[in-house]
Amino acid sequence: MATTEDYLLNKFNFLIDNVAPVNFQLGLIFMNKIMDGKVGFVTGSASGIGRATAIEISKQGGVVVVSDINREDGEETVRIIRSFGGQAEFMKADITREADVINLIDYTVANFGRLDFAHNNAAGAMQTMELADYDSETNRWALNMYLESMFYCLKNELLVMKGNGGGSIVNTASMAGIFGVGLSGPYVATKHGVVGYTKSAALEYAKYGIRVNAVCPGTVLTGLTENMPKGEFDFSKLTQAQAIKRLADPSEIAYPVVFLLSDMASYITGLIMPVDGGAGISFASVE
Ligand SMILES: NC(=O)c1ccc[n+]([C@@H]2O[C@H](COP(=O)([O-])OP(=O)(O)OC[C@H]3O[C@@H](n4cnc5c(N)ncnc54)[C@H](O)[C@@H]3O)[C@@H](O)[C@H]2O)c1
Repeated sequence: MATTEDYLLNKFNFLIDNVAPVNFQLGLIFMNKIMDGKVGFVTGSASGIGRATAIEISKQGGVVVVSDINREDGEETVRIIRSFGGQAEFMKADITREADVINLIDYTVANFGRLDFAHNNAAGAMQTMELADYDSETNRWALNMYLESMFYCLKNELLVMKGNGGGSIVNTASMAGIFGVGLSGPYVATKHGVVGYTKSAALEYAKYGIRVNAVCPGTVLTGLTENMPKGEFDFSKLTQAQAIKRLADPSEIAYPVVFLLSDMASYITGLIMPVDGGAGISFASVE
């Protein structure tokens, strides 16, 4: 004769077999997106990697301030995000001016209450040539464009996030921040500097709940690469020695950036992450 225990066990087994999978599937459907409830900005998001990142952050539930010196294309990024129901605003800011960076942070906090994440990504293109052919003015321009701007962003974001009790920052460095690349000395030097800032900030600010990482794109098809002054430097040649022999789509950089910004990466800080189609893994290709 069946006991009460048998009855309960049968019920339990029935629930496990029939109800749990449905609940699990419903759970997947209603699962929180990885940037749900997060607020922040992406610099240089009128185009390329920045635009792709802003879009992906929104798709993952985040609220994003799209920032750039190019208002028209920045507002286009906002329109794209709103077209699928995402929440975004445009704020013009030139990252080479600290006052603009502070305005951008103030705007984000004033309008959305917090600063949970920042993607420091903006940059302009520079001419390519042998090191001794650069003049001092162009070198200073590069220091300001790629490195000093990063200091302005990091310093002011860290101060606000420290007050918040935490946050996540991703800097766009480059494979030129890890290796030498011919005909781009000032760019290579400053991107190595971005890697240095990333490591220092990660070390110092983990105790405040702030994670700081960098992505190092290899070769990505964006405005930067399309508009690069054509000289001896042939950008497309860079893909020939790498495992994946093509330029990346900007979205292929955006996905790892959003992962690093999200709580999915809660144990990752100070990572200098190549996103390079395998450019950095080989000494030489013998195909
Ligand atoms: N494209 C690549 O292959 C590649 C490779 C390695 C690293 N990167 C890095 O990726 C980042 C994004 O570049 P991208 O390839 O998407 O280029 P992109 O030209 O498509 O986008 C850069 C954006 O930055 C904006 N910008 C330029 N100067 C600015 C300033 N002073 N203040 C604010 N915004 C400014 C531009 O208007 C543009 O919208 C850069 O830091 C670049 O060095 C790119």
